Amino acid sequence: MRISVVGAGYVGLVTGVNLAADGHAVTFIERAEERLADLAAGRMPIEEPGLAEAYAANADRISVRPELGDLSSMDLVLIAVGTPIGEAGDPDLSQLRSALDALRAWPELDVSVRSTLPPGTSARLPAMLDRTNGEHVSTNPEFLRQGSAMSDHRHPTRIVIGTYPETGDAHRAKVEALFGGLDAPRLYVDVAAAELIKNVANGFLALKLSFVNEVAALSEEYGVEVQSVLDGIALDPRIGSTYMRPGLGFGGSCLPKELQVLAAAGRRQGLPMHLARAVSQVNIEQQDRFVRRIQAELPRKGARVGLLGLSFKADTDDLRGSPALHVARRLLDAGVQVVAHDPAVHVDRAEAAAPGILMVQDPMAAIDDADAVIIGTEWPTYASIDWAAARGRVRFPLIFDGRNLVDPGAAAAAGFLYRGIGRLSAEPAPAEAARR
Ligand SMILES: NC(=O)c1ccc[n+]([C@@H]2O[C@H](COP(=O)([O-])OP(=O)(O)OC[C@H]3O[C@@H](n4cnc5c(N)ncnc54)[C@H](O)[C@@H]3O)[C@@H](O)[C@H]2O)c1
Repeated sequence: MRISVVGAGYVGLVTGVNLAADGHAVTFIERAEERLADLAAGRMPIEEPGLAEAYAANADRISVRPELGDLSSMDLVLIAVGTPIGEAGDPDLSQLRSALDALRAWPELDVSVRSTLPPGTSARLPAMLDRTNGEHVSTNPEFLRQGSAMSDHRHPTRIVIGTYPETGDAHRAKVEALFGGLDAPRLYVDVAAAELIKNVANGFLALKLSFVNEVAALSEEYGVEVQSVLDGIALDPRIGSTYMRPGLGFGGSCLPKELQVLAAAGRRQGLPMHLARAVSQVNIEQQDRFVRRIQAELPRKGARVGLLGLSFKADTDDLRGSPALHVARRLLDAGVQVVAHDPAVHVDRAEAAAPGILMVQDPMAAIDDADAVIIGTEWPTYASIDWAAARGRVRFPLIFDGRNLVDPGAAAAAGFLYRGIGRLSAEPAPAEAARR
């Protein structure tokens, strides 16, 4: 098929490049000049493992342009623009509106929306396209995880296709063809159900993480290793062990947003949505509690920390909603000098997001003369740091591990005090402590 993908961000690019690899001719429509220029030059504007290689390998079936152009020979348009939260906490649908506005000139064109839509939006898509019904319209929400998005696209847990009562068989066949060779359960549901499946899936994942984080804080206070509690509950098959890793909080463009979307959607219907709001609060408290724990052990004046990791999770350069970035900003606000390293985040973007931060190219340079080393993102490279070598570079040997990435025993053996999330604090052996 000839497919236009509107919006070349994380979802649009991953989807479009995979479709090109499947043999479709893909045109990306991207209005951000910098992203467009990168793509035109064959550079990836985002960091996602495997994306650049797949883009290069299928370049002959990929084109990029700033506007839709003539769509008369297009088989299908996929919408993958952002649907962020606006200033007032309500969904900002301006990108969606502008993308659909531009399609009004093509009343028969098949359009499928891959962006995450807040409850109640899908029902309005035909009207936003200036059409009387959804004969040529559908939704197909994306469930990829940044960092493993390319493989998630190839191995989806499910394919959800939202349709209208009028959606025609010819349209369904085109959308089905997008996922032709993929082995996954298909769910054909009403568009309103499709949007809720996506919103609720993210809400539930966030709920698990906040619950585990609250349990981790409780475990810390009672001197219990949180993992022993989680191992103990995981054996109950109704509970299990997946997505139950304590940490300094969740971030990204999806989970925090989805909780606000759910809360706002419920509010509009007069529902209190206690859980959605509480899950958000726990997540913010988790990050603030971590900052308070750090501050309590820093010198009052002239403190300096080495922050390892700034992206919201490993294997992405995305700073949206990043807990590590939140920690950096809070410490900078408190007058702490923050020297940071991240393998993927560009220096300019980091310095714009957290004015005053100093970015360095090497993790060891970040911890030079630090009063504390903070693990902000679970980049694998930080798991193999030589703590004995690091001991000679820091001003004070203290690790705050926001991702439970470091082996507490190894850190203590190298002379570091270790503080994790729901983990028992580790202390160096007395002889080592005496040397500090
Ligand atoms: N990032 C994820 O992990 C993820 C996962 C599942 C679903 N989603 C959803 O997918 C959607 C896209 O997310 P993303 O992270 O890829 O966003 P993004 O911000 O990285 O990308 C959106 C792109 O669309 C472009 N754009 C906006 N309006 C346009 C227009 N009218 N014409 C051309 N280009 C336009 C923007 O310039 C931007 O490059 C959102 O609804 C998001 O909630 C994201």
